[in-house]
Amino acid sequence: MPAAVLIGAQWGDEGKGKATDLLGSRLDYVVKFNGGNNAGHTVVIGDEKYALHLLPSGILTPGVTPVIGNGVVVDVEVLFEELEGLEARGVDVSKLRISANAHLITQYHRTLDKVTERFLGKRQIGTTGRGIGPAYADKINRVGIRMQDLFDENILRQKVEGALDQKNHLLVKIYNRRAISVDEIVDEMLAYVDRLRPMVTDTALLLHQALERNETVLFEGGQATMLDVDHGTYPFVTSSNATSGGAITGSGIAPNKIDRVIAVIKAYTTRVGAGPFPTELFDEWGDFLTEQGHEFGTTTGRKRRTGWYDAPIARYSARINGVTDFVLTKLDVLTGIERIPVAVAYDVDGQRFDEVPVSQSDFHHAKPIYEEFPGWTEDISGAREFSDLPANAQSYVRELEAMSGSRISAIGVGPGRDEIVTLHDLLG
Ligand code: GDP
Ligand code: IMO
Ligand code: MG
Repeated sequence: MPAAVLIGAQWGDEGKGKATDLLGSRLDYVVKFNGGNNAGHTVVIGDEKYALHLLPSGILTPGVTPVIGNGVVVDVEVLFEELEGLEARGVDVSKLRISANAHLITQYHRTLDKVTERFLGKRQIGTTGRGIGPAYADKINRVGIRMQDLFDENILRQKVEGALDQKNHLLVKIYNRRAISVDEIVDEMLAYVDRLRPMVTDTALLLHQALERNETVLFEGGQATMLDVDHGTYPFVTSSNATSGGAITGSGIAPNKIDRVIAVIKAYTTRVGAGPFPTELFDEWGDFLTEQGHEFGTTTGRKRRTGWYDAPIARYSARINGVTDFVLTKLDVLTGIERIPVAVAYDVDGQRFDEVPVSQSDFHHAKPIYEEFPGWTEDISGAREFSDLPANAQSYVRELEAMSGSRISAIGVGPGRDEIVTLHDLLG
């Protein structure tokens, strides 16, 4: 089973990092295909906790070749900070390969991200401020700088000039900031060239050849389905395709090569940043989920918004991504709740919707229609087999499975690497 895509089914932070790490020893390649250092993946190995942003989580597994695909936007300063941080902790990062077609995030993207958010005022997205949106905007506008441009100083200078031309007018005249000089950017970039040279390659070819040799490749998504620029809650989304389709365009591997689509989904829901969230809780249950689930952002430290499980979103994700297997995470967080509400459909101005409404206004008005399921009080963190779970936890999982559009193949019962119940082999 050589190629699998792993994505988030909700609004991010479902535990994708842990799920990737779990499969680590069976993988030859882990490919990040979208986003950049807006992602924050926590992996807990024994007493060690790692927070990965730009690097694929597979980098923590010896033997795995981590790949940054063409669909990613790379902030080289952050890249080397993260690599050095891992090296200092004894992680071998020498195998990392980066697509020559990946776009760069520079100082002007970070600046523009922050100033545009400020100008949006009440309409702001609540971005991570890492320059993600402006870097993708340049890519689409055909004024982006790619990894391969770094290796020809003349080309690099021309491209930076082209990109800064318009931006400096914007920065100075509209946003009241200082102009950025071409030299400043070019010098910053050139400082990394020698170290980047051995890493940058044709990763699409590399991965194609790996699949031809029947090696196992996991495509690890950043962000999640509801943050996807096409299929998420636009405009409250990130600027890339976080759904399974993004794995294709973001890596250069064809759709008929993909054997499995694994979606990671929490046993409840969280969201960071602005935008609609039908099951959001504003009462003590919201605080309960935040505290029990330690729901604070891995990247920005922001408190995550929390709410109950939303089955229409799970079904939507199953459909948009072609999910073959769900990994249900954080079931342990629900321990101690007497009756657990689950949204089974929405009420939109008196009309029932069983699916996520296509109209943004309808989704903003969607009120969850809840069903309640009996909870459990036993500590479940030691469960390794489905039968180890209390009867009510088992039926909660089965109920979610029945309404979510695909089978649940693994269940997270704690943050640790081994805190997992496996029902079906995710790569078998
Ligand atoms: P990602 O962005 O999808 O990789 O997820 P994050 O790492 O941002 O957030 C998930 C958080 O939940 C991390 O702190 C994980 O250590 C933690 N986590 C993952 N799975 C479980 C689980 O099954 N139970 C509990 N209690 N924590 C989990
Ligand atoms: P992982 O991979 C949760 C959210 C931001 C904001 C919106 C746009 O850890 O699941 P951006 O900086 O991408 O332009 O911000 O997307 N966002 C995330 N929320 N988890 C993430 O990544 C996110 N990456 C971006 O909060 O609302
Ligand atoms: Mg995260």
